[in-house]
Amino acid sequence: MAGPMVQGGVIVKSPQEVALMRKAGRILAEILVVLREHALPGVTTGDLNKIAHDEMKQRGVVPSFLGYHGYPGVLCTSVNEEIVHGIPGKKVLKQGDIIGLDCGVIYEGWQADSAITVGVGVVSAQATKLMDVTRASMEAGIAAARGGARLSDIGHAVQTVAEAAGYGVVREYVGHGIGQKLHEEPQVPNFGQPGRGMVLKPGLCLAIEPMVNAGGWQTKVGGDNWTVFTADKSLSAHFEHTIVITEGAPEILTVTEAAA
Ligand code: MF3
Ligand code: CO
Repeated sequence: MAGPMVQGGVIVKSPQEVALMRKAGRILAEILVVLREHALPGVTTGDLNKIAHDEMKQRGVVPSFLGYHGYPGVLCTSVNEEIVHGIPGKKVLKQGDIIGLDCGVIYEGWQADSAITVGVGVVSAQATKLMDVTRASMEAGIAAARGGARLSDIGHAVQTVAEAAGYGVVREYVGHGIGQKLHEEPQVPNFGQPGRGMVLKPGLCLAIEPMVNAGGWQTKVGGDNWTVFTADKSLSAHFEHTIVITEGAPEILTVTEAAA
C-alpha cells in the first residue's frame, strides 16, 4: 500500500510509523522528567522553555509547538488558574504553585504530545488532590481506549472520574488524533455519553488530554490570545499522553524506556 491509510479523515498508522512515534514519545517523556525536576521556586517559565529547547536539540528532535499558528514557545507553561497554552516568559514560580508543562516534539517527521502538572515545592492538599484526580481521569480515558471500543467511551470515562470528585471538566478544548501533524482527526472530547462515535481501530494514534478545574468547567482566553484561564479563577490541572490503539489495551507512547 502506498501512502497512509485514511478512514473518513482518520489516519491509521503502520507499525513502522508507530515505531517512529514511540521514539518521539520516549524522548519527550525524558524531557518532561528533566522539566519536572527544574520546576522549583525562583525559576521562571521562560527558563523552563529554554531548558526544553536545549534538551530537544541534544536529543535530535524538533519542537512541534514553536510557530504553530504563531505560538512563540516550545513548551506551554500554565500556572494555577491557567488551564492550557500559557506562554513561557518572565513569570517566576513560587512555592505552592502548580504548573502544567505541555510539550510536543517531532522525530523524523513524527509527533508526540504530552503534558504533566506538577507542584512547585510544597503545595496544598487541595492542589495535590486536583492533580491526582486529573491524572486518574486521563488514565481512565486511556483504559477505555481499547480496540473495538467507541471514541466517546474515552471522554465518558474521563468525565466520570473528574466529576465524581466534584470537579469541572473543560469542554472547549479537547484531545486529538496525532501523527505527522500535531492535530489530526478525530477530536477527543473529555466528556459525553458512552458508545458513540467511531470504533477505535488498531494503529489509530490519539492524544488524550483532560483539563480539569477545581471549580466550574467554563474558560476564558487571556489578553495574549493564547493563555486559557478558568472563568471562576479556580485552580486547573492538565495531563496528556499520546497513545496508539491496539487489539486490546492501548500502548502509551509518551513514556520513558524505563517506564515502558
Ligand atoms: N497539547 C496542546 C494541544 O494539543 C498543545 C498545543 S500548544 C500550541 O493543543 F502551541 F502548539 F498550540
Ligand atoms: Co495535545
